[in-house]
Amino acid sequence: MQTIVKKLNKENNFKASIYLVNDYNQLPVLKFSKEELEFLKYQQEKLEKEMIVLPKLDCLIIVQFFKNEGEAFAIQEKCRKAGDKITHLLNENKLAVALVVDLCENTNAAYSLAEGMALGNYQFIKYKSEQKKNSLEEILIDSKQINKLQYEHLNILTDAVYKCRDLVNEPLTYLDAVSFSEIITKMATYANIKVDVFNKTKIESLKMGGLLAVNRGSIDPPTFSVMEWKPEGHKNTKPFVFVGKGVVYDTGGVNIKPGDSMLDMKCDMGGAAAVVCAIYAIALAKLPFHVIGLIPSTDNRPDGNAYVPGDVITMFTGKTVEIMNTDAEGRLILADALGYASKYNPELVIDLATLTGAASRAIGPYGIVAMHANADTAFKELENSGKNVYERLAEFPFWEEYEELIKSDVADIKNLGGSEAGMITAGKFLQEFTDYPFIHLDIAGPVFLSKKDSYRGKAATGVGVRLLFDFIVNKI
Ligand code: BES
Ligand code: ZN
Ligand code: ZN
Repeated sequence: MQTIVKKLNKENNFKASIYLVNDYNQLPVLKFSKEELEFLKYQQEKLEKEMIVLPKLDCLIIVQFFKNEGEAFAIQEKCRKAGDKITHLLNENKLAVALVVDLCENTNAAYSLAEGMALGNYQFIKYKSEQKKNSLEEILIDSKQINKLQYEHLNILTDAVYKCRDLVNEPLTYLDAVSFSEIITKMATYANIKVDVFNKTKIESLKMGGLLAVNRGSIDPPTFSVMEWKPEGHKNTKPFVFVGKGVVYDTGGVNIKPGDSMLDMKCDMGGAAAVVCAIYAIALAKLPFHVIGLIPSTDNRPDGNAYVPGDVITMFTGKTVEIMNTDAEGRLILADALGYASKYNPELVIDLATLTGAASRAIGPYGIVAMHANADTAFKELENSGKNVYERLAEFPFWEEYEELIKSDVADIKNLGGSEAGMITAGKFLQEFTDYPFIHLDIAGPVFLSKKDSYRGKAATGVGVRLLFDFIVNKI
């Protein structure tokens, strides 16, 4: 269930109050006894504690100090992390409703704290026989800094990130390409987004050779979902197109993944989930921009009819590809979607994909590996959004020399570079299918965490949703 954030109203009942202050002097002296004030002063000034808990007989009081020093985006992230800690404390104390009293001036602290609280309260427990649900349901805010629109966006984004995490956490038995497209259709319909799902026959007639090749080892048909949010009075003449890798499970195919490296491969549709949920949020918030989502989807498995290394396939654009490794499948299904994106004459195309282990090894779970072609300004804007939502972009070179590494003797290109710079040669492969400003985001590192990291939690993080939403919202 989604955690709701709302403005405090006189009838509200709560058993926990969180005072958010920059320093001791901002505390409301009338709310505390002399002893309590001394205790708080000592804890903050002498012990340098940032979060101080005052258990009372009838309620829980938390005082959260934060220093308004450094860059705004870094302060906001500290507040989100503090919010996550508070959520865990509230759940430990079985509290359902908490009030955040914002006593800071001119900061986004309360917004970010509430965001961290709400995102940190996510659970994926549907398969547990005994469901230990978190107690926290509602976060009330008393703050002059947050306006109506911000409350609305915060709740829309919490919902969208929860939905994205759910999709990524769902195993293959629940989420194959067809059931994924059904969920996409439901979400789109709810948010008034136009949706069209291409079935296998349509994909065959479009000659999407990459998607069909990867799907050959599967017992389930592929899907290609198109979402379109085109509100009246949209401000862009050419659309923004988001493309998401929707491999619902990646065994590696005939080049089967060894040992435990297959374990988390239900997360291989994390890019697709982020695209779906970001457009869902953009539509719920009625943002005045024409945005299109393309989601090619299949699983990647070995079978009697599976594609094999040495095969040559013809893609949607007509380009031929020599298959060197069936585990480099993401770029094949994305290439067809990127080729298809051309028909919209897009302003910009951004793809999100759990594309390479190399990206994850290079920077770990702390950011997104990013490359771009002919999109200097948009990339700067997206980098800025990356800071705002703390899904930071790490830009990698996109030099033409890397193109040499994917040349093939028998076909136009091959689906594998050398042993070096795997995340870049994967990006270069994708670029071969673009003729518009293009940003490639490899989210293999941050998509699915092996251990809990504050409000991002464990397992699916929902990375990409807040990033794309922020990018569009800032265009208003
Ligand atoms: N889905 C994987 C990449 C991945 C790895 C995602 C770890 C999330 C976490 C992708 O399809 C893949 O298997 N890539 C190969 C490419 C190689 C064969 C060129 C890889 O990175 O090993
Ligand atoms: Zn793979
Ligand atoms: Zn994959």
